[in-house]
Amino acid sequence: MPSYIIEGGKRLEGEATVSGSKNASLPILAATILNNGITKLYNVPEIRDTKITQEILKFLGCKVKKSKGKIEINSKNITKKEIPEHLMHQMRSTVILAGAILARFKEVTFSYPGGCDIGSRPIDLHLSGFEKLGINIVKNAGFIVCKCDKIVGANINLDFPSVGATENIILASVFAEGETNITNAAMEPEIVDLANCLNKMGAKIEGAGTSNIKIIGVKRLNEVSYTIMPDRIEAGSLLCMTAITGGKIKLNNVILDHINPIVNKLEETGCKIVKDKSSILLEAPKKLKAVDIKTMPYPGFPTDMQSVFASILTVAKGTSIIVENIFENRYKYMSELKKMGAKITIEGRTAVIKGVRKLTGAKVLSTDLRGGAALVSAALVAKGETEITNIDYILRGYEALDEKLRKLGANIKIKEGD
Ligand code: EPZ
Repeated sequence: MPSYIIEGGKRLEGEATVSGSKNASLPILAATILNNGITKLYNVPEIRDTKITQEILKFLGCKVKKSKGKIEINSKNITKKEIPEHLMHQMRSTVILAGAILARFKEVTFSYPGGCDIGSRPIDLHLSGFEKLGINIVKNAGFIVCKCDKIVGANINLDFPSVGATENIILASVFAEGETNITNAAMEPEIVDLANCLNKMGAKIEGAGTSNIKIIGVKRLNEVSYTIMPDRIEAGSLLCMTAITGGKIKLNNVILDHINPIVNKLEETGCKIVKDKSSILLEAPKKLKAVDIKTMPYPGFPTDMQSVFASILTVAKGTSIIVENIFENRYKYMSELKKMGAKITIEGRTAVIKGVRKLTGAKVLSTDLRGGAALVSAALVAKGETEITNIDYILRGYEALDEKLRKLGANIKIKEGD
């Protein structure tokens, strides 16, 4: 696998533009199955996860045409109703396709999605939601077979506001007979983007972005063109990567509401922030102040920002306390930060970070997507050279990250793997 080679110590300064949202693109790519026709999507980020999802759409029988900034999917000739195991295991969020295939064909077969290094990632809430919609589920030898004669709207309460389960139930119920009400639904902006795209196709979804979502079943959906919203986690990551270097950045193509919790915390560290309609200007102090972080479902501080934010606190002035409330195993990257001189102690879901004067470059391993991004952030300020291996994880979720950082003055290059 390729590595990043980063020479630390360069203060980042300049402008960057946020790409389309990975976590909105994936469910919206799944939604293209539903209209039995052509969907034109704009601003889909060119990253591994969107490429894998397009591979699965092609495996199912879709025609996928790509041109600059646009992906055209024709879902007329879908012939398969199963998600290939090898692709399921490459990316667990492919489970989101199950709801869309079920809505159109009333059957789907898929294997248990791979867990990953941030937790077991069960899908019990997805499956119990499907069962409430009248779908029969048979599990054997690692495969899950879902079948039904018809999908009937139901009242579904989620034990936990799961993003994926909320999206999968919305996708599975767009053609249901009658009304589906999801209570304790996830409120993430990616769910609003999915609902906006489905409603533009002719679906009837109300309340997306709140914890009560109503889906009134319709007969069919039409062809549509849709532009994916900006990626709030990439935006937060670029702000943090600038802040750790004491730098200054003008970030374009942001939706300020989506990054509020991140911006508020960055201001607490001493960063000066000026907001414009769809851009934000951050200027960091030489030394950041320690802050405490608790991850929560949206609109709380996002779990996907926990690792990158933690990296900037390793060189802040003072001690920071982090509590990860969403995933049970999302601190693996911290052992890699310690190789660079970070002072961190972990007790269950709580991590205590004592700011140090400086980090030193080292050879470190990215354990997962956002953990890898945390190592990039630390490497930008570390003394000397850092090699980050296993960067395929990072390439899953950040479009042209090295180019964007180089344009801001970072000394970063990709070393091809052997
Ligand atoms: C989505 O994952 C995102 N992925 C994750 O981003 C993000 O961290 C997560 O939401 C939380 O915001 C995509 O959108 C593709 P969940 P998802 O279901 O849907 C438990 C990234 O870095 N749970 O909200 O898998 C689960 O174990 C990725 O971009 C169940 O118990 O997250 C976890 O503890 C990482 N049963 C919690 O809920 C279920 O059936 C949150 O999971 C489903 C989830």
